[in-house]
Amino acid sequence: MSTTSTSTNLLVYVIAAVAATGGLLFGYDTGVINVALPSLKAYFQLEDSPSTVGWIVSAVLVGGMIGPFISGPLTDLLGRKKINIIAAIVFVLGSILTAVAPSVAILILGRLLLGLAIGIVAATIPLYIAEIAPANKRGQMVTFFQLAITLGILLSYVVGFLFGELADGWRTMFWAGFIPAAILLVGMLLVPESPRWLINKGRGEEAMAVLIRLRGEANARTEYQQTIELIERERLSRADWKELFSRRLRIPLFIGIGIFAIQQFSGINAIIYYSTDIFNSAFDSTRNATLATVGVGLVNALSTLLAVFFLDRLGRKPLLYTGLLGTAVALATVGCAFLFRESLSSDLQQTLLVGGVYVYIFFFAISLGPMGWLLIAEVYPLRIRGFATSMGSFNHWFFDFWVGFTFPLMQATALGLNGGIFFIYMAVVLLGLLFTRYLVPETKGLSLEEIEGKWK
Ligand code: BGC
Repeated sequence: MSTTSTSTNLLVYVIAAVAATGGLLFGYDTGVINVALPSLKAYFQLEDSPSTVGWIVSAVLVGGMIGPFISGPLTDLLGRKKINIIAAIVFVLGSILTAVAPSVAILILGRLLLGLAIGIVAATIPLYIAEIAPANKRGQMVTFFQLAITLGILLSYVVGFLFGELADGWRTMFWAGFIPAAILLVGMLLVPESPRWLINKGRGEEAMAVLIRLRGEANARTEYQQTIELIERERLSRADWKELFSRRLRIPLFIGIGIFAIQQFSGINAIIYYSTDIFNSAFDSTRNATLATVGVGLVNALSTLLAVFFLDRLGRKPLLYTGLLGTAVALATVGCAFLFRESLSSDLQQTLLVGGVYVYIFFFAISLGPMGWLLIAEVYPLRIRGFATSMGSFNHWFFDFWVGFTFPLMQATALGLNGGIFFIYMAVVLLGLLFTRYLVPETKGLSLEEIEGKWK
């Protein structure tokens, strides 16, 4: 490999890493509430105000649902870089507001802003990375985003473990979120615009300059040519958001809905948001249950590294099949730990519960975790990609909201006691096998233009 191509590749990695900081914020700001709640409740005396607590938790998810409606039109109009700069500014504002909040209302407003920013970057960053990355590394590089999400979750659990006992520990936890927000803002000002977006806007010279920096002269020309040809071919057909609902794009549309329905109703955030609570039933102290939660974060981040390594080598579908089967078995194990609680020794129950959750997280992290964000970044045509990935992000937050909202309610019913919730999640994951078989295309090694060609 020549020196130019090595340094060119390095630049792509640096850009992907800067962009992925948005994922770190996604993970941090969604995970932190799990560990910040005890000190928040004590500070604002919220012990008897479950609905206020509910709003503090879910403001981020509501913001996440609104964010895609901002990024949808603006990503294609302003470009991938500007929309991410806007999101970074909102992250900075949200982090400051939540950290200094003198009242619950300001805290909720800050959380809403954080959610807005997360809802935006969840669509625009995977998309930006997919457009910057070379075809044979795209799976790996978009998965940096997922890796960053898991690192953010882990970081929030660790910060929570360290500062959870302080009276206003929550302020320290929210201030910690300000640092990656500032890094994202500065980093986004420095990275180049997506060459594909530039070509689509008729700014060929700028696009070529970026492509040469990313790929070297020869590869840049081929890629430029491929994208131009695609745009020429499509120029005759209509290009607005309605195209997403056309017959031609029925499969990509279903992919954007289906992958997040399965990802979220596999129960991932029942664990990410409530693991301490779930573990409490098997541990004698909350501190030990929190420690087991830190373990969840660690398994999640480490296993995602495997996905980074294997997605472009083995392909998307083999990992998805493996992950779905593995999560189904793990969910059944967790369900059985509840169902047979009376007849199991407490040691065995603890092993089945914690072991089942860890195995579940492992299989989720190598499959459903990265695949959601990867698929929505690669299956849509260039001309509506910004809008379409934003709709995918909306689906994610919509389903996430319902899982987050219904889990504590179901926990309080017989479904909580007999492990029924986990068997329901297992059924969803099994349906995911059919979804993968009939709807998910293998996109390993294909250029975005080749994937687009599939929907003719
Ligand atoms: C999902 C999040 C989840 C995280 C866990 C992401 O892909 O979008 O909802 O909390 O994975 O690692």
